[in-house]
Amino acid sequence: MINAIYPGSFDPLTLGHMDIIKRAANMFDNLTIAVLDNMEKMPLFSVEERVKILEKATIDMKNVRVIAFNGLLVDYAKENDIHVSVRGLRSDTDFEYELMIAQNNNVLSEEALDTVFLATKPEYIFISSSGVKEIAHFGGDITKYVPPFVKELVYNKYVK
Ligand code: PNS
Repeated sequence: MINAIYPGSFDPLTLGHMDIIKRAANMFDNLTIAVLDNMEKMPLFSVEERVKILEKATIDMKNVRVIAFNGLLVDYAKENDIHVSVRGLRSDTDFEYELMIAQNNNVLSEEALDTVFLATKPEYIFISSSGVKEIAHFGGDITKYVPPFVKELVYNKYVK
């Protein structure tokens, strides 16, 4: 059994995240989506809201579970017998950042946690959670960026 973890902020969940989740869920026996609640001081969605959103989006994926997570990824992975971390890669700028995180995790875990990178599909390469927030903030159309139910939740956050 290979247990994998997909960590991230998911603020908000995008179509790019969804594609990585579907592919990783097909690739591994179990996939834990770990929603980090310690990195952003002012997230658009609370960690509880983000967990609920991810649970709704993955309701039909039987080998996927969603957890809120605070602390070091390697500690959670060790406690839960997880040896693979999954991350999506969009570009060379992502790569520099991701390589640093992957190497830190590998060293901190004493090589117990490795990272598998999935290449983002070309149709999602322009999507980022921060871009979604900026576009929505100025009233732009985020239909092509997030699942339909998430679109409504994001717009609701910006209603004055
Ligand atoms: O979606 P994001 O914000 O790019 O995800 C970054 C994340 C959450 C994967 C990364 O910040 C992380 O794993 N944080 C947990 C703390 C940790 O384990 N840090 C050590 C590795 S640098």
